[in-house]
Amino acid sequence: MRTQVAIVGAGPAGLLLSQLLAARGVESVVVETRSQDYVLARIRAGILEQSSVEALRAAGVAARLEVEALPHRGIYLQWPGERHHLDFVDLVGRRVFVYGQTEVTKDLVSAREQAGQELHYEVHDTAVHDIETDHPSVTFTDVAGAVRRIGARAVVGCDGSFGPCRQAVPDRIRRTWERTYPYAWLGVLADVAPSTDELIYAWHPEGFAMHSMRSEQVSRFYLQVPADEELAEWPDDRIWEALSTRLGEGVDWSLTSGPVTEKSVLPMRSRVTSPMRHGSLFLAGDAAHIVPPTGAKGLNLAIADVALLAPALADLVLSGDSRRADDYSPTALRRVWRCTHFSWWMTTMLHQSGDDFDAELQRSQLRWVADSRAGAAGLAENYTGLPLPL
Ligand code: DHB
Repeated sequence: MRTQVAIVGAGPAGLLLSQLLAARGVESVVVETRSQDYVLARIRAGILEQSSVEALRAAGVAARLEVEALPHRGIYLQWPGERHHLDFVDLVGRRVFVYGQTEVTKDLVSAREQAGQELHYEVHDTAVHDIETDHPSVTFTDVAGAVRRIGARAVVGCDGSFGPCRQAVPDRIRRTWERTYPYAWLGVLADVAPSTDELIYAWHPEGFAMHSMRSEQVSRFYLQVPADEELAEWPDDRIWEALSTRLGEGVDWSLTSGPVTEKSVLPMRSRVTSPMRHGSLFLAGDAAHIVPPTGAKGLNLAIADVALLAPALADLVLSGDSRRADDYSPTALRRVWRCTHFSWWMTTMLHQSGDDFDAELQRSQLRWVADSRAGAAGLAENYTGLPLPL
């Protein structure tokens, strides 16, 4: 097979890239190790920055989002006895939207399928070759067991943190920065109307808790749990009790419970890989960077990567102009490091770890963020997404 851009990974990064390339007249082929059902069932964060919504709109995949996304003008930040509303619209003139990553992926799959995009699911043994030349390729075994090769002008790794593309950048060139946090999140999806109008981020001596949502009928919750926690430790009753305590202590508010439809333990880590381009191989989304979920930056960063990469690849493929391709890695990494810092900052400010000294510092920091306009605006500016260029 021959194409202009071979894309490894059919998550939101890979699919949006193929959509943006097609709009510029650039052909691509997408390969994915998972089944389509698996990719579409994967539950991830649900907050879109204004600029992500604009990127999806520009890509022509926002029709359902425009109707169903829930606009949010802020968040609540709380600790026992106090709940503060941070009004992003008032602070920085921007808002965010609640629309699950699962929904973004569904919209992208249907747009690509309608356009006749070549998508190969359930492939294995994916490998990239000749990335230091201008005729790289991707080989894989397809679902029927046939070994296949895609020759292209560029290969893009949108294959997440476990995919092969990141490792294809030679060790002598690749640099990785990593942080593992000593806790995890228990993520819970429940068929119950949210008990809040805005998301609640709660610091609590028993651990962080968060109340998010997916729609007017579906709520999403997170609880800080030990890093190696077993799901069996968390029967539904214990979940609702912990959520009520951590989200409700000392505030005049109550949580409505409902049937839990999904629960899982999510590890928390930060990782940045540099460079995000080596020769004809480009990395985008989780293949290049992982953030802990606090602050919901993962999907937004992936969208920002491919919005930057699509025009750069179009120049490279259509006119041999490599200037924007040369700028991709340094430009993308500036946003990556900003979001890496913000996610680390939100995470370490809100989770229990360390001793009483750490806890007092956290509470002081939270109070400053909630009470000072400068503190609140700093959080709001990062949360709603800093406009390019950084
Ligand atoms: C969600 C997850 C987050 O990490 C966050 O900061 C906000 C929302 C979510 O899944 O809804």
